Amino acid sequence: MKFFIDTADLAEIEEAASWGVLAGVTTNPSLYARIGGKLADFPEHIKRICALVNGSVSAEVVGQTADEMVREAQELASIAANIVIKIPVGIEGLAATSALTKAGIPVNMTLVFSVPQAILAARAGARYISPFIGRFDDIGEDGISQVADIVNAIGNYDWRGAGIGMEEPEIIAASIRSVNHVAQAALIGADIATVPFAVLRSCLSHPLTDRGLEAFIKDWEKVLQA
Ligand code: G3P
Repeated sequence: MKFFIDTADLAEIEEAASWGVLAGVTTNPSLYARIGGKLADFPEHIKRICALVNGSVSAEVVGQTADEMVREAQELASIAANIVIKIPVGIEGLAATSALTKAGIPVNMTLVFSVPQAILAARAGARYISPFIGRFDDIGEDGISQVADIVNAIGNYDWRGAGIGMEEPEIIAASIRSVNHVAQAALIGADIATVPFAVLRSCLSHPLTDRGLEAFIKDWEKVLQA
């Protein structure tokens, strides 16, 4: 499983990239609003993110029609070679995904909450499909088993040729809220987990790791003094 970071915060992206394991970034309008982003700065901000990461950067369109989505997507795609266009699943989103895929612009289909939505996204040629875990849990459903079903359903078919090049769509476990979500995403075979910075950092912590390290350092002091 690859790790993406789910944020628009440049400092968080820079820090996570320095760990050497970051394969991409996902953003959305809410994440950009959370850092106080302004409309006029958006293209430059996305450009800066693209320069920080050796991997794909998902930037979301906000248009309501397929034509608006395609227009926005073309502008975003011109910012950097590693841009992926994030498009909400739906009738207009599918049409936009199909058009963009044919034009060689990769799409991350987002706000996916069911197997049929994921299958339609794959059929439209989406390069990435993002089922949400936390938001499904929030309404009393089981976000992890939904992603597991989507991983299995997509795995049932050969999608080569549906999208750009000969690649299969990759499933991004999104709306991740905890270390357990990350662990479960890996166990069910999600291709990618897009993880908020705080959760990513928590993935490295374990009380037994801390206790063990403390003991090693203390014991090495004894070796130095022997
Ligand atoms: O990538 C989508 C993700 O950011 C949604 O997360 O926590 O707002 O449900 P959340």
